Amino acid sequence: MEAELSSPGAGVPTLPQPVRGDRVRPGGGSSFHSMWRELLPVGRHPDSRGYRRFAWTGADAECRDWFREQAEGRGLGYEVDRNGNQWAWLGDPAAGNAVVTGSHLDSVPDGGAFDGPLGVVSSFAALDELRARGAGFTRPLAIVNFGDEEGARFGLACVGSRLTAGHLTVEQAHRLTDGDGITLPQAMAAAGHDPDAIGPDPERLARIGAFVELHVEQGRALDLSGDQVGVASAIWPHGRWRFDFRGEANHAGTTRLVDRRDPMLSYAETVLAARREAELAGAVATFGKIAVEPNGVNAIPSLVRGWLDSRAADQATLDTVVGGIEKAAREYAEAHGIDLAVVRESFTPVVEFDHALRDELGRILGRDTGLTVPVLGTGAGHDAGILSGSIPTAMLFVRNPTGVSHSPAEFAAEDDCVAGVEALADVLEGLACA
Ligand code: GLV
Ligand code: MN
Ligand code: MN
Repeated sequence: MEAELSSPGAGVPTLPQPVRGDRVRPGGGSSFHSMWRELLPVGRHPDSRGYRRFAWTGADAECRDWFREQAEGRGLGYEVDRNGNQWAWLGDPAAGNAVVTGSHLDSVPDGGAFDGPLGVVSSFAALDELRARGAGFTRPLAIVNFGDEEGARFGLACVGSRLTAGHLTVEQAHRLTDGDGITLPQAMAAAGHDPDAIGPDPERLARIGAFVELHVEQGRALDLSGDQVGVASAIWPHGRWRFDFRGEANHAGTTRLVDRRDPMLSYAETVLAARREAELAGAVATFGKIAVEPNGVNAIPSLVRGWLDSRAADQATLDTVVGGIEKAAREYAEAHGIDLAVVRESFTPVVEFDHALRDELGRILGRDTGLTVPVLGTGAGHDAGILSGSIPTAMLFVRNPTGVSHSPAEFAAEDDCVAGVEALADVLEGLACA
């Protein structure tokens, strides 16, 4: 068996084993392995073994330094755009019709190693592979690291690509605040990026002919079909809603049950309602983050704030699910004397990836084998989805045998990662080379 990047099943990935010399491929495969090993310790928590690479923090800065070194080490033109996204250019960006690949390096709290970094590392490795093949480029090529894709710190996903595409206004971005009360402009400035520079970047987008993001699959479709690599079809519409249940703080030992206005009760009932509504509709709904005030063991809470993430195959279903959850929450709140406020913090409509580009990827990947490449939908959000309204975008997925993601146990086998690098190299060669 080929050495693995990390071990599945045990719950926590281990450091990578060396790849046996006879299995090392020239170009992309071997450079993938050394880059992966370099990046693996950055931002990894020693206890959870998960990643905490949050936007504009020290771990993020280390990831960004790594990206710049990869770009400069390959003689690529390095730049940071007005929104803090990093770019590595081969060829002249001003020539236009560029082919761009890449992903993100930030993580969710205690995230896995692959969600995001697999796409960035594979992009550099694919370029190495193309150079090893002696490919001649007829279009500019760029590798990008989009900032703050997960939204773990400021609550909004895909901030870098949303700003660039004009889906997030400067005023909205300037109001984003983390759990410690630090605003996005303050965090950017502390990390050395000018927050007054942010905003839409249509000139940059106009220079891009195609964006292809490679990503670890966040489900088991490829494992079930027995394929290493697939192509994306669509992303479910999804959003985040904040539910504030306000009651009355009081003593946990002396307040009679009938006298309480405990917001935890209506919150708990709402969590169950979310599960019920999602099940009924064939959708998903998750309360994965909660804040409690005053957050004392012996105090009835005054506030329970829960964040709902919900996703469905189509807009109407999602509206039904979230509407049903909110209606139930209001009924429970009223029954317990609780004030409820519901705020939609973000929303991403359904994304249907560019059909022509998707079919082109399928043709390129099936060219040598004659095999049909699986085409998959996903419930996960991506920068490629945000950009799909502005430029032709496509995605490649790499098999994830457990399907686990947003967890330290996220996993992909080395063979599959290298197959992903080769697929991406084939795609970039097909799109950008003579
Ligand atoms: C990002 O990974 C998301 O789907 O929330
Ligand atoms: Mn993610
Ligand atoms: Mn991702």
